[in-house]
Amino acid sequence: MKDTPINFSVVKSKIETSGIPHIGKATIRELVKLVNEIETETGDRYIRMEMGVPGLPTPKIAIDAEIDAILNKKVTAKYPNLEGLPELKKEISRFVKLFMDIEVKPTGCIPTVGSLQGGLIAFITIDRMYEDKDTMLYIDPSFPLQKQQLKVLGQKFEQFDVYNYRGKKLRDKLESIFKKGNIHSVLYSNPNNPSWICFTEEELQIFGEMANKYNVIIIEDLAYFCMDFRKDLSKPGEPPFQPTVAKYTDNFILLISTSKAFSYAGQRVGMMVISDKLFNLRASGLKRFYTTDIFGYSMIFGTLYMLSAGTCHSAQYGITAILKAANDGTHNFRDDVIEYGRKAEIMKKFFTDNGFKIVYDYDGNDPIAHGFYFTISYPGFTGEELIEELIYYGISAISLSITGSERTEGLRACVSLVQRDQFPDLEYRLKKFNEHHPVK
Ligand SMILES: Cc1ncc(COP(=O)(O)O)c(C=O)c1O
Repeated sequence: MKDTPINFSVVKSKIETSGIPHIGKATIRELVKLVNEIETETGDRYIRMEMGVPGLPTPKIAIDAEIDAILNKKVTAKYPNLEGLPELKKEISRFVKLFMDIEVKPTGCIPTVGSLQGGLIAFITIDRMYEDKDTMLYIDPSFPLQKQQLKVLGQKFEQFDVYNYRGKKLRDKLESIFKKGNIHSVLYSNPNNPSWICFTEEELQIFGEMANKYNVIIIEDLAYFCMDFRKDLSKPGEPPFQPTVAKYTDNFILLISTSKAFSYAGQRVGMMVISDKLFNLRASGLKRFYTTDIFGYSMIFGTLYMLSAGTCHSAQYGITAILKAANDGTHNFRDDVIEYGRKAEIMKKFFTDNGFKIVYDYDGNDPIAHGFYFTISYPGFTGEELIEELIYYGISAISLSITGSERTEGLRACVSLVQRDQFPDLEYRLKKFNEHHPVK
């Protein structure tokens, strides 16, 4: 019987009756269920950092545009264009010009059912381009759901944890993998889920140069667009811009999610941006599956068509409105979400003041940004042991080991669901943890 912030015997008995053999190995949803049950029984609120879901309201401008599309344009009764609303395509093309300083024609700017579907469509189509290239390089740590997509598709991938290959070391690592000749594409997220590292300009250049040298497509997942809050990337047409590999190669596909940057997760609408060169590229292998060998055409009229025949009609109007406002400089979407970074800064300090370490801590010489996620460890604990112990202290997070990270001592913490009025509880609970587990 220990003096833990959450009643020790209740937590213990809930763990025992949960049927989960190792709490540290539980899936996110199993953990959610367990914590819900403990909260109900004890009446105590947890510091819930296990789920990577957005926690801020959707900008009104987007909601108004959707309502107008439903009520006045009556779009719910009509199939959307497969390739997307013309006005949305135009705004996406403007958006990447104004916020990334890259040129892509509206043709290659395509709405998808969340950027998760954008990834799926890209994975399927790319894998069918060449008979002799059949493997994706998957940069870890990463969002596990995309790996799950590849597994279910039965597609091959190789992976490595980028932690040990930052900076110049990345070039040799990529070269050693690309020179085998079987890699058709690379996937990474930037800022990274789960570690919140952001590739430096040097690293993006290396990815781009290697992509050019070995004819590899880079799929850059920008699920957290403009959310490296160290710099203000939100002024249309003005540097600094959202860093991107597209500055160094025209062999790219960008996945831009609306879920976090525009708090639009519920409507399942994302954006896929294919470079002009890649869109028009002919790849002989495609003819085996599609009516044409043109990449962009196969992507839309082959893969996207068979998966969902387009993307939610009204949501496309919502996103058009918010992009137009961002592009015109009348709405600053960074102001809507910078709260994530502000909370992260405070929360990280509570952890580090109480013996915890930030696992993925630097981008080159700069400490990583404060953002949607951060990673933590505690001396003497594996990640799995730490999750199990923190449950008694009213804190929940997930183990980095499920994200392909080699840093098995670490946990991923997401700031979005933690409310500021919980900060005193968080600080108190971490102090207690530190008191009970003195660092030698
Ligand atoms: C790296 C990464 N990619 C993609 C997604 C999914 O985005 P969407 O909601 O647009 O499908 C997420 C969401 O958590 C993510 O973290």
